Amino acid sequence: AGDAPAAGLIVTITAGPTREPLDPVRYLSNHSSGKMGYALAEAAAALGATVRLISGPVSLPCPAGVERLEVETALEMHEAARRLAADSDLFIGCAAVADYRAEQAAEHKIKKVEGEEGLTLRLVKNPDIIATVATERDTGTGRPFVVGFAAETRDLEAYARDKLTRKRLDMIVANDVSRPGLGFGADDNAALVLWRRGARQDEASPESDGFDQEALAPQPKSRLAMAV
Ligand code: C5P
Repeated sequence: AGDAPAAGLIVTITAGPTREPLDPVRYLSNHSSGKMGYALAEAAAALGATVRLISGPVSLPCPAGVERLEVETALEMHEAARRLAADSDLFIGCAAVADYRAEQAAEHKIKKVEGEEGLTLRLVKNPDIIATVATERDTGTGRPFVVGFAAETRDLEAYARDKLTRKRLDMIVANDVSRPGLGFGADDNAALVLWRRGARQDEASPESDGFDQEALAPQPKSRLAMAV
């Protein structure tokens, strides 16, 4: 009510990249800055929610009033997300989780081998964190409301719809990361928001096949977070 429309809501957000060790000094990761997830955490806190931020390694300060849990690997993020989502009203998966990790991180630094021009790394798939949360929601209490993100370089709407359905999400925020100045590492973002009809309380334009959508114009991630 009033200044705090989200008062009483518990919100859990994943943000940033994950880091998958190859050996004691090396890892696989990606260019996620964490800016979008941190902006969402800040917006949710400003709206009065209790916010927990599960963050991979980023160089951002923890937003005021937000409880941050720092993790490195996808498996650590998976464990934290399952635990914290269980009593959350809203779960937002904004992290850029590494799809694969080394099957076994080497105990000692991997050395170059004389005469070998190649090195083969054996990778295994990481769990899909948001899909686990959504499945456990469906087989459990029916909470939380699950919102995913999709960074795409083409066919934005089709891929977003597919992810929404396949991962059993309530809503997905899709952005085109091929557009200059938007997305990864940038301060601005634009998005196409899709949700299953009836998943959101407010009014939106009806679509033909069970999905509703709204396009959000390019704007600072802080403003976009509030709009989402
Ligand atoms: O399949 P893709 O990685 O594009 O899906 C993006 C969405 O799924 C994001 O919400 C992301 O946080 C989530 N995700 C996840 N665990 C993974 C991969 C993606 O939670 N292993």
